[in-house]
Amino acid sequence: MKKLSLLFIAALIPFNHALAVEPEQLTQNSRAAVKALGGELKATLQASMKANGPVDSITVCNIDAPNIAKKVSTDKGMKVARTSLKFRNETNQPDAWEKAVLEQFQQRKEKGEAVKTLEYSELSSVDGKKVFRYMKAIPTGDVCLACHGENIKEPVSAKINSLYPDDKATGFNKGDIRGAFTVTQTIN
Ligand code: HEC
Repeated sequence: MKKLSLLFIAALIPFNHALAVEPEQLTQNSRAAVKALGGELKATLQASMKANGPVDSITVCNIDAPNIAKKVSTDKGMKVARTSLKFRNETNQPDAWEKAVLEQFQQRKEKGEAVKTLEYSELSSVDGKKVFRYMKAIPTGDVCLACHGENIKEPVSAKINSLYPDDKATGFNKGDIRGAFTVTQTIN
């Protein structure tokens, strides 16, 4: 019996090891991609807000943000994007898995977890392909309120409404979960 259970454990070790190492590496790669996208978006937005103010910076979010996400995705060899329960651009609408994770983040925040450390990952499948999916929450900061806050001033409000007639991404307060970065890596 003892011999048998030892054999059993020995057989499990390499299996466990492979499983333990791989998701860790995938998580690290996802974190690096999110850091690259987040860093570039923040730098671009901050520079534009300072130089041009919120109205002209809408273009940064409207045109530059999707391009930066595409560029980082190509650089990192994985899909990196942003999503939210209350999205502005429909292309950022969460799929069922992302929606469940965003709701989970909201619950974890309510239980006291810090928004900036909320992350989640899982081996999953998309269109029949095995994938590793990772999400990291995005907190709402002061600089975000001009375009995502409760009282968006004119002419910022008018410009946002003309570009996004179905905008859902307003009414946020500092510290709220604005959305999340979402990463998908294909596994062969
Ligand atoms: C100058 C206005 C402006 C500011 C300031 C701004 N955003 Fe946005 N945000 C936008 C626009 C416009 C979009 C839609 C981008 C698109 O079309 O992909 C957007 C989209 C997003 C999205 C993608 C999900 C969605 O709603 O479509 C997230 C997440 C987001 N913003 C977070 C933030 C955070 C966090 C801050 C503060 C650090 C911030 N934004 C500051 C205008 C702004």
